[in-house]
Amino acid sequence: PLHRPLYGRHVLVTAGPTHEPIDPVRYIANRSSGKQGFAIAEAAAVAGARVTLVAGPVHLPTPPGVDRIDVETAREMEEAVNQTLPVDVAVMVAAVADWHVTRQAGQKIKKEGGGIAPLELAENPDILAGLGASVQKPRLLIGFAAETHDVVHYAQGKRQRKGADWIIANDVSGDVMGGNHNTVHVVTADGVEDWERMDKERVATRLVERISNALSH
Ligand code: PMT
Repeated sequence: PLHRPLYGRHVLVTAGPTHEPIDPVRYIANRSSGKQGFAIAEAAAVAGARVTLVAGPVHLPTPPGVDRIDVETAREMEEAVNQTLPVDVAVMVAAVADWHVTRQAGQKIKKEGGGIAPLELAENPDILAGLGASVQKPRLLIGFAAETHDVVHYAQGKRQRKGADWIIANDVSGDVMGGNHNTVHVVTADGVEDWERMDKERVATRLVERISNALSH
């Protein structure tokens, strides 16, 4: 039916940051409140999809009708994503930390006694690029890109490198992370659409409309 255009589709959404532990009390992370990803999961559920939301550590309630898997690290997020496959659509909104600490301390690192313990970092798996190269690649694979400058240029590069169909580029030089509004550019193989600044719920419903249209063609 027209008002449930994603009925029968399985949509995966990742949202929030990942936390990469240094010791039992400290971690490295990227900034993300989870708001934009949770809004997309909710809009997809309203549109009738079966929705799996893989969420990093955030303080947000689960949207109605959404299956949620909570994770902490990028490696856990990758595992949860792989367990959710196959899906029709994946929207990767999470701000995944690029590195993890190779030797996580079992006890709190003490600052007394001087000297800062050097941290050895290793690269995290790129979950979006993994899906882009997978035999189980979703029919529509959508990434996000947070940039502070040359937003569309970097997004075009990421789209091709990671094998994504679309990249939603957001200019995060303002108050996007944690705020209620977003200014995005939809970067596809056909070009770039600039959307005006709007609240994250509206970005979510417009994106879900665009996804529904793409799947019906
Ligand atoms: O959570 P909010 O406060 O509402 O803020 C929303 C947001 C700004 C975090 C969100 O809209 C956003 O832009 N998310 C992507 C942020 C980002 O840092 O992107 P990136 O350039 O590191 O990664 C590009 C894409 O690859 C993203 O789809 C990301 O999920 C994915 N990725 C990145 C690294 C990695 N190891 N695995 C991934 O899957």
